[in-house]
Amino acid sequence: MTESLLDLIRRRRTIRHFTDESVSNEEIDTLIELAMCAPTRLNRQPWHFVVVRDKAMQRAIAELLRIHPYIEQASVLIAVCGVPQASSTWLLDVSAATENLLLAATAIGLGAAWVGAPDTTLWNLLEEHLRDTLRIPLDVRIPVLVAVGHPAESPPPHGRHDRFDPRKVHYGVWGNVADELT
Ligand SMILES: Cc1cc2nc3c(=O)[nH]c(=O)nc-3n(C[C@H](O)[C@H](O)[C@H](O)COP(=O)(O)O)c2cc1C
Repeated sequence: MTESLLDLIRRRRTIRHFTDESVSNEEIDTLIELAMCAPTRLNRQPWHFVVVRDKAMQRAIAELLRIHPYIEQASVLIAVCGVPQASSTWLLDVSAATENLLLAATAIGLGAAWVGAPDTTLWNLLEEHLRDTLRIPLDVRIPVLVAVGHPAESPPPHGRHDRFDPRKVHYGVWGNVADELT
């Protein structure tokens, strides 16, 4: 692969339309391996990943979330789980792993969408549903679902043109932004 990591990060976009092509077990294994390379506080690695390939289950989740048809369309759904008892920073650690997973998906030509709104009413219902159907223990949280598939859309890469905001960069002290320095 000749693409630089910098360009890969710019190219990662949320994909919400997938083709019918299946994602292989080897590809999923690669995504999770890369997710597990993420940094964690005290190297606790307080995560588990549940790989779901079940259209009926995906449909039930999509219906529960109401606005996410691509969850059903996706070849695979990965429930990214966190273990609060393993680390007080479990949610940060799991988030770092999720970003790694999304970048890995982009790198191997797959598309992915991070879905999650932990501690909202709807998400609490979803977590309960997932815990029941996927047999996830009570002391394990499920803050993130990642829908993975072959992309049927190709949004443009991010970059300075659409993302970089110099007003949000403070040099030395808060408020010292580039506009005022020049
Ligand atoms: C914590 C978190 C939760 C998200 N939840 C959803 C979601 O429920 N549905 C969705 O379509 N996208 C979700 N996204 C993706 C964002 O909508 C997306 O990252 C944002 O619009 C920017 O687009 P980009 O990823 O293409 O840069 C989520 C992203 C994060 C980090």
